[in-house]
Amino acid sequence: MILAGPDETAAAGAALAAVLRPGDVVALSGDLGAGKTTFARGLLHALGFQGEVPSPSFPIVIPYAPPELAIPLWHVDLYRIEDPEELLELGLDEARADSVVLIEWPERMGRLLWPDALRLTIAPHGTDARRLTWEAPAPWEGRWPVR
Ligand SMILES: Nc1ncnc2c1ncn2[C@@H]1O[C@H](COP(=O)(O)OP(=O)(O)O)[C@@H](O)[C@H]1O
Ligand SMILES: [Mg+2]
Repeated sequence: MILAGPDETAAAGAALAAVLRPGDVVALSGDLGAGKTTFARGLLHALGFQGEVPSPSFPIVIPYAPPELAIPLWHVDLYRIEDPEELLELGLDEARADSVVLIEWPERMGRLLWPDALRLTIAPHGTDARRLTWEAPAPWEGRWPVR
């Protein structure tokens, strides 16, 4: 999927928002500046969040919950994680019990990334365009890509 500019990247996030349910994990890969947080902003605004969406690089986790968001969601950026031990302290496992978990830099989880996560990758495509690709395991069939 080609995303011609930041607005289209945000719109792709908004499209995903419509099919999300608690317990979903979305892994969002791409280099610094690829557009991961832009995608997350579109997604969060589509779920009703009205404010500014900061990048969660510090703190590493920004939790959202009703009533500011339609469903509970953790926005996570693992860029600064160096040791899997630090991952355990974040409590992502517990979050999955009742929240969507949206993860930038999921590579930092290595094999700890859940196999049922929707894996999205944003890559450069010319100057202001991006190419969005994905791997959608079974729980995502019929949900992503949204048609
Ligand atoms: N098609 C595009 N999609 C997303 N961002 C884009 C696009 N074209 C240009 N940009 C710019 O690239 C930057 C992406 O930043 P950000 O979303 O924070 O990236 P990341 O979270 O991947 O580091 C923003 O400044 C945005 O305006
Ligand atoms: Mg980011």
